[in-house]
Amino acid sequence: MAIISIASTKGGVGKTSLAFSLAKDLDYRYATNDMSVVLQKYKNARYYPRKIPLYDNTVYDFGGFDAEHSEEILRNSDIILVPTTNDANSLMKSLIFIQKYKEKTILVFANMIDHPSDAQTIRTKIHEHFPNLAFTYLRRTKLLKNALEFGMSATELYESTKHTQHRYKQAYADYYKILSLFTTDGLYFRAPRS
Ligand SMILES: Nc1ncnc2c1ncn2[C@@H]1O[C@H](COP(=O)(O)OP(=O)(O)O)[C@@H](O)[C@H]1O
Ligand SMILES: [Mg+2]
Repeated sequence: MAIISIASTKGGVGKTSLAFSLAKDLDYRYATNDMSVVLQKYKNARYYPRKIPLYDNTVYDFGGFDAEHSEEILRNSDIILVPTTNDANSLMKSLIFIQKYKEKTILVFANMIDHPSDAQTIRTKIHEHFPNLAFTYLRRTKLLKNALEFGMSATELYESTKHTQHRYKQAYADYYKILSLFTTDGLYFRAPRS
């Protein structure tokens, strides 16, 4: 049982794709302050243009700014996932965001990674500022995009055929590291370690 928020002030870094898939895999609500196609694809998805209610068992997808309305939820989240991509602007925005919520349990995930060494570069930069922050990465993949298109979670798409298991093997392994934070050992939630 957990309140999971995915937030960044930068768009296009993968918040919505990941939020939907995690919500569907965990059978959680998906709540967002940002219009997204997920609303058409997932029955437990809700759009709140103004104040978002605080619910347990929910993945919050916080697009754009709107700090005012997301602040309370972020403060009450069990974990905040902060996506960042391999560019200076994305990284800077993530660092500013992390600074603001540094008392919280945060997992930074570098997204759309072309090579694991890029992830290491990002990890090093993050750790220069926040030495103990939990970090993981998701390589560049069509897994989440295709899953969302079919209205499937990453797990559902990955498991659907031998072909998809082969095609998405690596990407699913990356994704599973994040998913398993909420499922391992029958515990629905445990804090990530860095
Ligand atoms: N790991 C990834 N590799 C490649 N493309 C990705 C990855 N994660 C997300 N994307 C794509 O990037 C685009 C933006 O993702 P989205 O989830 O909408 O970001 P945000 O919600 O942060 O704006 C989408 O086309 C999505 O399919
Ligand atoms: Mg989005």
